[in-house]
Amino acid sequence: MKDSHGRVIDYLRISLTDRCNFRCIYCMPEEGVSPMGHDEILSLEEVERLVAIAAKHGIKSVRLTGGEPLVRKGVEDLVRALTTIEGIENISMTTNGVLLPKMAEGLKAAGLNRVNISLDTLDPEQFRQVTRVGNLEDALAGLDAALKVGFSPVKVNAVTVRRLDQDFLAFAKLSLDRPLHVRFIEYMPLGQEAGDGLAGWGKEDVISSQELLERINADALAAGMEPLAPADKNPLGWGPAKYMAFPGAQGTVGFISPLSRHFCSQCNRLRLTADGKIRPCLFSDEEYDVRAALRSGTDEQVAAVLMEALGAKPDEHHDKVGTERNMSAIGG
Ligand code: GTP
Ligand code: 5AD
Ligand code: SF4
Repeated sequence: MKDSHGRVIDYLRISLTDRCNFRCIYCMPEEGVSPMGHDEILSLEEVERLVAIAAKHGIKSVRLTGGEPLVRKGVEDLVRALTTIEGIENISMTTNGVLLPKMAEGLKAAGLNRVNISLDTLDPEQFRQVTRVGNLEDALAGLDAALKVGFSPVKVNAVTVRRLDQDFLAFAKLSLDRPLHVRFIEYMPLGQEAGDGLAGWGKEDVISSQELLERINADALAAGMEPLAPADKNPLGWGPAKYMAFPGAQGTVGFISPLSRHFCSQCNRLRLTADGKIRPCLFSDEEYDVRAALRSGTDEQVAAVLMEALGAKPDEHHDKVGTERNMSAIGG
């Protein structure tokens, strides 16, 4: 599948639910989101059918997201079903990790290949402040569980925010002794006017990847460590991260720079929301309704919606960051 700008599109991100067991302050309001109705949400059979059709058109990698994908009932069965679809090479998940101690083994057995765990701070109090309801210990237990059952690679996603003053070196050091790939994501003021909603964080809170790299290396030198260097080998993935590593480390340190370094020219993905809309771009509210086709149309009609969304992918996101949906309803 190629879009109108010549990019190969082979990665589908699927939001399974807009619900979450956390309430991260940058992602959703304290009271949570008014949940999508049962009939609005695609059934897991509908998701499976869409993936089968998308695979025929060149989708190779599928990522399950949310909200929190692990709160969706039947997620393990969905994973199992997706593994049988010809053409799907890799099934991954982005999760906050707290349900992994219970679910990692089953997911691994069902055929999930890998997980990315969202974890923004290693300070227990700050963790509670950011997630509003979560415990750091539970998230760390999820990380351990992911490594223990053998997901590979295991990545950690930390959104970087200036006013949080996170200890970035401590994060980066997680990559030293275990095969963990820590990725720092530039905070995107999305779904809100900058500085005027949800967390109240604005553009002044964005830390560019370049600044962050310099800061981590300065802190590393001060701690008697060698600085980060380009990684010899990137962990398997379909995303836009650029990877560095500490010499001799088991894992890597990645940088995802949606604001400072547009990676739109290498964009390879489409997104599906839990209520059956295909989004050509994370930053744009343009959506294509595939639910109706899935409910009453032929495979050709479903494919036609996919192709329409593909054709609508913009060349880049032009720094437009306001969108109607919160991140929880898009899945990052
Ligand atoms: P890998 O295949 O493991 O590399 O996955 P990934 O990085 O694509 O997935 P993940 O869900 O871990 O995404 C990490 C973050 O990167 C997302 O939350 C977004 O913040 C950012 N990101 C991923 N894709 C895009 C994109 O198309 N546009 C923008 N602006 N940001 C993106
Ligand atoms: N900016 C950057 N990353 C975000 N995520 C959620 N909201 C934002 C934002 N505004 C991240 C989550 C998760 C991934 C899917 O998206 O932390 O790792
Ligand atoms: Fe849940 Fe992730 Fe949103 Fe936090 S950022 S509320 S863990 S979906």
